[in-house]
Amino acid sequence: MVAMKTLVVNKLSLCLLLFVNIIANHAAYEPTWESLDSRPLPSWYDEAKLGIFIHWGVFSVPSFRSEWFWYDWQGANDTDCINFMKTNYPPDFTYADFAKQYTTEFYSASQWASIFNASGARYVVLTSKHHEGFTNWPSKYSFNWNSMDNGPHRDLVGELATEIQQNTGLHFGLYHSLFEWFHPLYLQDKANNWTTNNFVKDKTMPELYEIIQKYKPEVVWSDGDWEAPDSYWDSKNFLAWLYNESPVKDTVVTNDRWGNGDMCHHGGYLTCSDKYNPGVLQKRKFENAMTLDDASWGYRRDMKFTDVLTMDELLKTFIETVSCGGNLLMNIGPTKEGTIAPIFQERLLQMGDWLKINGEAIYSSKPWTYQNDTITPGVWYTSAKGQQYVYAIVLNWPSGETLQLGAPSVSQSTVVSLLGYTGTIEWRAGTTHGIEIILPPLTVNTQPSKYAKVFKFINLDN
Ligand SMILES: *[C@@H]1O[C@H](CO)[C@@H](O)[C@H](O)[C@H]1NC(C)=O
Ligand SMILES: *[C@@H]1O[C@H](CO)[C@@H](O)[C@H](O)[C@H]1NC(C)=O
Ligand SMILES: *[C@@H]1O[C@H](CO)[C@@H](O)[C@H](O)[C@H]1NC(C)=O
Ligand SMILES: *[C@@H]1O[C@H](CO)[C@@H](O)[C@H](O)[C@H]1NC(C)=O
Repeated sequence: MVAMKTLVVNKLSLCLLLFVNIIANHAAYEPTWESLDSRPLPSWYDEAKLGIFIHWGVFSVPSFRSEWFWYDWQGANDTDCINFMKTNYPPDFTYADFAKQYTTEFYSASQWASIFNASGARYVVLTSKHHEGFTNWPSKYSFNWNSMDNGPHRDLVGELATEIQQNTGLHFGLYHSLFEWFHPLYLQDKANNWTTNNFVKDKTMPELYEIIQKYKPEVVWSDGDWEAPDSYWDSKNFLAWLYNESPVKDTVVTNDRWGNGDMCHHGGYLTCSDKYNPGVLQKRKFENAMTLDDASWGYRRDMKFTDVLTMDELLKTFIETVSCGGNLLMNIGPTKEGTIAPIFQERLLQMGDWLKINGEAIYSSKPWTYQNDTITPGVWYTSAKGQQYVYAIVLNWPSGETLQLGAPSVSQSTVVSLLGYTGTIEWRAGTTHGIEIILPPLTVNTQPSKYAKVFKFINLDN
């Protein structure tokens, strides 16, 4: 009898579960911001903290000025770009002629994947198409201006997608520019004050649906939206489809660049501006998209050593970002041959080495009550296990014998350790509040890392 009852109850709850599941699977998002913004961000994204951005395209051939080269040359008529072309190319050379030299002969998706994996990043975002309109995949909607019919004669997106998705634990994502500087249909829609949207119907949307179906990206990083409203781009209908029906509906994350005025307000997570690093806790999940070559996202042959962020600079922006609730999307620009400049490789591997020791304070961490210390500048906090663990990430090792921190409230049972260091860490309560850590005598051989170091607190009073 008792057994019977349990069975009935089990059956009932099973039905209920199925019912809930059916509802959940059919939870249709409406093509309105109210509805789209209500979708919870898939949890993998906040846990990941670090992604790699890759700007690669025909602009990697001139590799001069930046990925905006075509526009700077023939849209803005910039003198340096005009002179660069006059000096180095025949008079009738067009931007389209660069595509032939987009050779990618050293591109090895498996080599890229192993570098990205070794960097400690948990996702990658590749430019499928930048504002120049050249598609890095064989698009049906980009006649002869794509990587299969022209230039590489390869499916650059597909090769990396397969490698990342099949051989690493990283999430694969795609950047996609809504607009194209010089596309005739786009320019016509613009001349019509966005009262027509032939460009969107014939080009932008078919392409976006194509890359989602074909490559199943779990990040859709939209850009190039700012000249026209989202009603022109039809982006809310796209997002409703993406969230309701697409093959990545359960795991995909999107950014906020879906039409003029949307950035920093609507979408999956917020990017707000390039290199967004607010320094204070944010209400919504954000991403700081920044680039290792501080002056460009695309590769530049004339890049100088001093243009590249040092490890200290890179870690500073990473740690500040994570403490305030953000992810860092760190960009590299590969060459037209498909290589990654050794200085970028070095930074990526250094990040990976740092994360091997200190990743506990980063991956899946949550912002703490305080983001940075109240007394000592350059100390940023994260927390884990519902704030049972608090991490103080120290960007600058003090020159004295102690480190004073104002934010942590200590108790009898507080335990302090230094990640990657086996010795005991001595400490005493601060004179009025906080804590004074007696710095261990680190040498070049015993320090966990040359760069930022992380103190871990268990059992704080706050
Ligand atoms: C640049 O030159 C082109 C072609 O001469 C012209 O159409 C365009 O308006 C110029 N752009 C600017 C910003 O002056
Ligand atoms: C990725 O990195 C992890 C940690 O360093 C390593 O164990 C794994 O073998 C790497 N996988 C690939 C495909 O490189
Ligand atoms: C677009 O708007 C401008 C400025 O309001 C106006 O001068 C122009 O005639 C409009 N063009 C069309 C095609 O509606
Ligand atoms: C903590 O960060 C805020 C915002 O970036 C800054 O204004 C403040 O000066 C920092 N505190 C210290 C002690 O450096």
